[in-house]
Order: sequence, then C-alpha cells, then structure tokens
Amino acid sequence: MAILKVNNVTKRFGHFTALDGINLEVNQGEVYGFIGPNGAGKTTTIRILLGILQATSGSAQIFGMDAWRDAVEIHKRIA
Ligand SMILES: Nc1ncnc2c1ncn2[C@@H]1O[C@H](COP(=O)(O)OP(=O)(O)OP(=O)(O)O)[C@@H](O)[C@H]1O
Ligand SMILES: [Mg+2]
Repeated sequence: MAILKVNNVTKRFGHFTALDGINLEVNQGEVYGFIGPNGAGKTTTIRILLGILQATSGSAQIFGMDAWRDAVEIHKRIA
C-alpha cells in the first residue's frame, strides 16, 4: 500500500522551476532515503508533502489524501 505518493509534481517560484515533474512512491513499512545535492529540491518537496507549499501542478498524497487540501486531516497522523 502506498503511504506517500508524488505524481508529476512541478513547483515554480516565479520563472524559476524548482521541481520539474517529480514522481515518488513510498509503501507501508518502507524506509526511504531522500537524498540529493544542495538545491535539488528536497526541502521544497517535503514542504509540499506537509501542506506548507502548494504544488504548481501535479499531485502529492499521504494516506491517500491530498497534501494541500487535506493537510489538517493528514497532520493528525504525522509529525
Ligand atoms: N521560496 C523560494 N523562492 C525562490 N526559490 C526558491 C525558494 N525555495 C527554494 N527555492 C529554490 O528552489 C531550489 C530547490 O531548493 P530546496 O531548498 O528545495 O533544495 P534542497 O534540496 O532542500 O537543498 P539543500 O540540500 O541545500 O537543503 C533551489 O534552487 C532554491 O534556491
Ligand atoms: Mg533543504
């Protein structure tokens, strides 16, 4: 079962594209190493997953719920 799903997410800050169509899936019981060079977009991705930033396009889900729209419900179960 996919606990976390990122589907074709793009994030633009003005004209700058920080995330360009990323995909990611983490299943129940998995430990996922999220690594990348400085400026790769790790923090931006996590902010989108936490509902702090809204993706420009694409979808991000945790527990099958939308990371932006359902942030309050998701936050009852994550820390
Ligand atoms: N609010 C913002 N406005 C404009 N550009 C931003 C903003 N936040 C991040 N960026 C840019 O988006 C890109 C991705 O940044 P991000 O902080 O997500 O990378 P990171 O992988 O977490 O880097 P680090 O390893 O240094 O923490 C960088 O080029 C950064 O300068
Ligand atoms: Mg960072």
